[in-house]
Amino acid sequence: MEREHLKPLFHAGHGVACGKFILIGEHSVVYGEPAIAMPLHSVRMSARVAHGAPEHWFESELYQGPLARLPAPLAGVKAAIEACLEELGERPEGLHFIIESEVPTERGMGSSAAVAGAVVRALFDLYRRPLDRDTLFALVQVSERIAHGNPSGLDAVATSAAAPIHFQRGEFRDLPIALTGVFVIADTGVKGGTRQTVADLGARFAAERSEVEPRILRLGRLTEEARVCLADDRPARLGELMNEAHAQLATLDISSPELDRLVEAALAHGALGAKLTGGGRGGCMVALCTDAEAASVVAEALLASGARQTWIHRFEEDPA
Ligand code: MEV
Repeated sequence: MEREHLKPLFHAGHGVACGKFILIGEHSVVYGEPAIAMPLHSVRMSARVAHGAPEHWFESELYQGPLARLPAPLAGVKAAIEACLEELGERPEGLHFIIESEVPTERGMGSSAAVAGAVVRALFDLYRRPLDRDTLFALVQVSERIAHGNPSGLDAVATSAAAPIHFQRGEFRDLPIALTGVFVIADTGVKGGTRQTVADLGARFAAERSEVEPRILRLGRLTEEARVCLADDRPARLGELMNEAHAQLATLDISSPELDRLVEAALAHGALGAKLTGGGRGGCMVALCTDAEAASVVAEALLASGARQTWIHRFEEDPA
């Protein structure tokens, strides 16, 4: 008997991506400067897809219904699915997508890129086709362009990455990490607006280039020094770089009172450094602590200062 006949009748495709946090370089990365981002494998995004629905059907916490009527915040995912089927050369009817997400939406943790990444991986798995990093990146960027307007590609890479990445002008590579410090990520509970903050900074860059450009370049230099700190295990200096990055971003009007309050609370409770992470004006912040014990003190302080939720991230425990 041919092996082909042994295939199960109903094969479901499964794809996983994850949340991410940007250690340093958000916003300046849009202007061609480098950025460093960390996948958060403990914060999972999972997609399943199978044939058999009467029409293409989508189920997630945000929406359940026909794919054709996906609401605006998910419009990018629909475009990524169409681009993916085109790439695969498939024209199926009645695909049923089920999304399970632990990544909070609009908090700078990459939820839009993560859902697109998980769905693309699920479709390639459904049709049992290999998926390389560049194709995945290109397909997730289809979604990100609709969600964010002018995405650098950082979220598309970080939410599907196996390891921390260095990213610049669409080029990405895994980073050597020797850092012993522990990160605490905290959600302000306020929705961030990456599309808006990127657009506002773009307008300001055009209007006040001599004021904005040196800050963008400085953020790029801080990022390059942060890369060395990660490789050489220099947490104290990395904390200083994070503090300066937050100050630069705040001057560029990317922070918010809630983010500033959490950054101050982390520093007052022993963090080596703290900054907003992601699109800003809401969303999340990240603090660097010397060890797990210091990180739990900071996490408690952040919750007491109004954080909605916290996550603790250490490299050696990351379930890649
Ligand atoms: C958003 O997570 C990161 C930004 O730098 C935007 C981008 O890179 O596309 C603010």
